[in-house]
Amino acid sequence: MLALRGIRKVYGATVAVDELTVALAPAQVHALVGENGAGKSTAAQIASGVTRPTAGHVEFGGREVTFGSARDAEALGIVLIPQELQLYESLSVAENMYVGRPRPRGRGRLVAGHTMRRRAQEQLARLGVTIDPASRVQELTHGNRQLVAIGRALMLDARVLIMDEPTASLDEWEAQRLLGVVSALRSSGVAVLYVSHRLPEILRIADVISVMRDGRLVRSAPGHDFDEASLVTSMLGRPLVRHAGRRTSARDEVAFESAGLTRTGVFGPVDLTIRRGEIVGMAGLIGSGRSEFAQTVIGRDKLTGGQLTVAGRPVSIRSVRQAVQRGVGYVPEERQAQGLFLALSSKSNVSMAALDRIQSWGVVSPRRESRYVRDALARLAVKGDINAPVSTLSGGTQQKVLLGRWLALQPSVLILDEPTRGIDVGTRFEIYRIIEQLTDSGVAILLISSDIQELLALSDRVVVMRAGQLVGEFSGDDLTEMNIGAAALGADASHGGTR
Ligand SMILES: Nc1ncnc2c1ncn2[C@@H]1O[C@H](COP(=O)(O)OP(=O)(O)OP(=O)(O)O)[C@@H](O)[C@H]1O
Ligand SMILES: [Mg+2]
Repeated sequence: MLALRGIRKVYGATVAVDELTVALAPAQVHALVGENGAGKSTAAQIASGVTRPTAGHVEFGGREVTFGSARDAEALGIVLIPQELQLYESLSVAENMYVGRPRPRGRGRLVAGHTMRRRAQEQLARLGVTIDPASRVQELTHGNRQLVAIGRALMLDARVLIMDEPTASLDEWEAQRLLGVVSALRSSGVAVLYVSHRLPEILRIADVISVMRDGRLVRSAPGHDFDEASLVTSMLGRPLVRHAGRRTSARDEVAFESAGLTRTGVFGPVDLTIRRGEIVGMAGLIGSGRSEFAQTVIGRDKLTGGQLTVAGRPVSIRSVRQAVQRGVGYVPEERQAQGLFLALSSKSNVSMAALDRIQSWGVVSPRRESRYVRDALARLAVKGDINAPVSTLSGGTQQKVLLGRWLALQPSVLILDEPTRGIDVGTRFEIYRIIEQLTDSGVAILLISSDIQELLALSDRVVVMRAGQLVGEFSGDDLTEMNIGAAALGADASHGGTR
């Protein structure tokens, strides 16, 4: 149905994709895997008309096609759902689903808003979700935004659907539902190109798996020819160094305390303490209030009650800047919207949180800045030019840059919201090691993650949030997938409290 033939894509000195040939058949899920920076998103962009190849060509239905833009590809039913969603935050869900396509018109050629909303709702219902089509995208959780983007693609009658890390920001529950949708699309004849770092889901859903490394195709075979180990080996080109398992470095002193922290109608009261060197995991479904709690702690949202204590001192935090000054660091879930300045270099993005360390008499010392940034990024194995704009880095590399900002800063407490979302398996364990290095030096970590395996691997304790309340806490032998899942879903009545 759709094929890339001998594709090469060059950005300046970087060869993002080279000699890539991949063919998608109807009613087939074709997975594309590889390390961060392997060229997966670039390939997806070329297949969907977003980017033009430097060499090679795209075929649709056996004939060579040239796309001037994504609209040309969409006209043929080829739809990309990009890694970083491109939704208009201030528009409604229904309006977003109609962006770039004719809206239904009623009498006097007026846009029929109710028809738009009804059709939008129908598409979302196909995904098994109830999202009010009149609500604005900015009010939605990231998971729901993902579903809106998929709904939009379904509305375009996609014959080829290209999904770039669709489940990265979904919790287990929603990821399962999405995989169900992908299966249903396959049954209806759609060809799916599926980019993901979640290997178990790929092994479950993919009919064909193509592995890329350094821009090239290294192996392409039916899904059942792979198991997790062989997939990882062909991705990395070397065996995986696994995470050794958690050894605690928690000390006695309390580094962070939230006493009755509340944001009325959103979460709370939340009582939580984290000791120096301790990792407290926070589990919960999308929309349970975890990210909102983090946003309030760091002063982005206003609290309506309660008290924060950092390193033994009561503090009030009204802005992110104040949070940094009081020793609270934060790596947000939505790196592009909240964390990174895309037009600036990795160097500036890393050094901006540490200006006081690299300037003297109010002037930034370029030498100190470069050294500081190189140290931080070297520990994260960030490849590439630290002076290039962050927008030119692959998704996973952007996440490393964001984490790099906090490494050398050593805050009292660091809140990580989905730190390995979109990170490849090799790098994931590197990040685990970095998190543990931070705790060794006494940093307290609040780890918000939808990946239960990740919570189990790293946490000293896991607290579970549901409907804005902490409904469970597990450590030692009680720290199990079952217990966390049951508390998150509200399946265990002994943890009480639904709202
Ligand atoms: N617009 C651009 N300008 C310059 N370089 C780019 C651009 N887009 C991608 N690259 C480079 O091309 C390479 C491949 O990037 P790509 O985004 O395709 O990787 P990826 O496999 O999707 O990685 P990830 O898993 O991190 O999302 C990287 O080295 C990246 O820095
Ligand atoms: Mg990518």
